Amino acid sequence: MTATPTASSPRLSGKVVLVAGAASGIGAAIARRCAVEAARVVCADLDEPAARTLAAGIGNDAAGWHCDVTSTTSAQDLVRNIRDRFGRLDGFVYNVAAPSHDGTVVEFDEARFRYELDCGLTGAFIVSKHAIPLMAASGGSIVFIASQFAHVAVGRSPVYCAMKAGLVHLAKAMAIDHAPDNIRVNSLSPGAIATNRLLARHADLDAANAALGPAHLTGRIGQPAEVAAAAAFLLSDDASFVTGTDLLVDGGYATR
Ligand SMILES: NC(=O)c1ccc[n+]([C@@H]2O[C@H](COP(=O)([O-])OP(=O)(O)OC[C@H]3O[C@@H](n4cnc5c(N)ncnc54)[C@H](O)[C@@H]3O)[C@@H](O)[C@H]2O)c1
Repeated sequence: MTATPTASSPRLSGKVVLVAGAASGIGAAIARRCAVEAARVVCADLDEPAARTLAAGIGNDAAGWHCDVTSTTSAQDLVRNIRDRFGRLDGFVYNVAAPSHDGTVVEFDEARFRYELDCGLTGAFIVSKHAIPLMAASGGSIVFIASQFAHVAVGRSPVYCAMKAGLVHLAKAMAIDHAPDNIRVNSLSPGAIATNRLLARHADLDAANAALGPAHLTGRIGQPAEVAAAAAFLLSDDASFVTGTDLLVDGGYATR
């Protein structure tokens, strides 16, 4: 007889979850939520000191390691370290995006376009390529953090819109290929979320909320913890029949 689940049951008990781009904002919230759900979390980021500090703070055997998702050797090292320390991988969240530059394609610097694409999309391919063989031993769940701008475009952000739409479709293609390995692959598309990322265009988060909130049906922007709750669902066995889809966590932004 199986135990009746309760609202307070941790949903990721026994699982090892890698969060790439964990050091700040949404990634840090996802790492924390996964630890609350009893996962052992690997916090990987270009910003190694911040990843280490985060891991020490969330406890539960979390690791804080350096990773540059644009580098094959860095991704290989990361997965080797996960294998050596934990012996398994059950969840992988790809949360990385470089700071976004504004501009039309005419204005955009080509090297910058390639760099943002590398960080936001090619990195998801690189880390997945090396993580899936470890995950395939026991099955698992992959979640790519996309954006509402995968669904509706916005001006002066051609690479951001393209890479996020690419992530959504990459997840669908991978869901088909890796279903036989018992690996589910989904994307999650947040609306505007109160992180430092918004400070590139707004004086503070209150100003960001005032400017961006009305575009959401909720009348406000979201919080990192609201995205993390949805990511924890996709990582958990509660989502065992959910694969190849995109979950909009956007306060209704993309409805109009
Ligand atoms: N904040 C929002 O409003 C919002 C809305 C929709 C989607 N998103 C998406 O959510 C994700 C997280 O957003 P955030 O606001 O928390 O951003 P953030 O900039 O705080 O987090 C991105 C993280 O990625 C890391 N990173 C950058 N380049 C890397 C690399 N090459 N290798 C490894 N790590 C690298 C950064 O150090 C940082 O910790 C991003 O993919 C973003 O596009 C954010």
